[in-house]
Amino acid sequence: MKFLSDILVASLLFFAFSLQGIDINRTNIEEISEQRTLSIIKPDATAKNITGSINARFEQAGLKIIAQKRICITQEQAGKFYAVHREKAFYDNICKYMSSGPIVVQVLQGINAVLKNREIMGATNPANAAIGTIRRDFGENIEHNAVHGSDSEENAAIEIAFFFSSLELID
Ligand code: CMP
Repeated sequence: MKFLSDILVASLLFFAFSLQGIDINRTNIEEISEQRTLSIIKPDATAKNITGSINARFEQAGLKIIAQKRICITQEQAGKFYAVHREKAFYDNICKYMSSGPIVVQVLQGINAVLKNREIMGATNPANAAIGTIRRDFGENIEHNAVHGSDSEENAAIEIAFFFSSLELID
């Protein structure tokens, strides 16, 4: 009898730990896939007054805009933001361009936000962007391509901190 009750207790303990394991795994997956990414609506798009149309694309795809501001930046500030491209031939032009008019900087939050935003934006060159993407529908050329989005979760954290304090991120 004692032997049977020991087996019963052991089975119950095993079952409880298994359930706990499943819960822990599920929580980890959710934590890993919920992300934030930096988005910039560029001067060509603010000039066309289409920031609302662009924001609707993010929201329809399930991304939440948890911070947003319309600002102007200097060429020097643009240079700091795009510092990773310092050696590229297009560096000076993109810095001049990003300081040529208002931009809207924003933080998007959602499941796999970095990759999802890149899918919604489309390829850097609007000519190569898939049908239905922001850059295909609103971009003019590789420089005037309507939007910028972070390319990794690591860079997203750096880019978000460039424009926003943690107090401005309203989840
Ligand atoms: P963005 O995602 O903002 O990152 C850097 C920007 O440089 C890019 O979008 C383009 O608008 C701009 N750019 C201009 N020329 C090029 C190029 N030849 N290759 C990549 N990006 C370019």
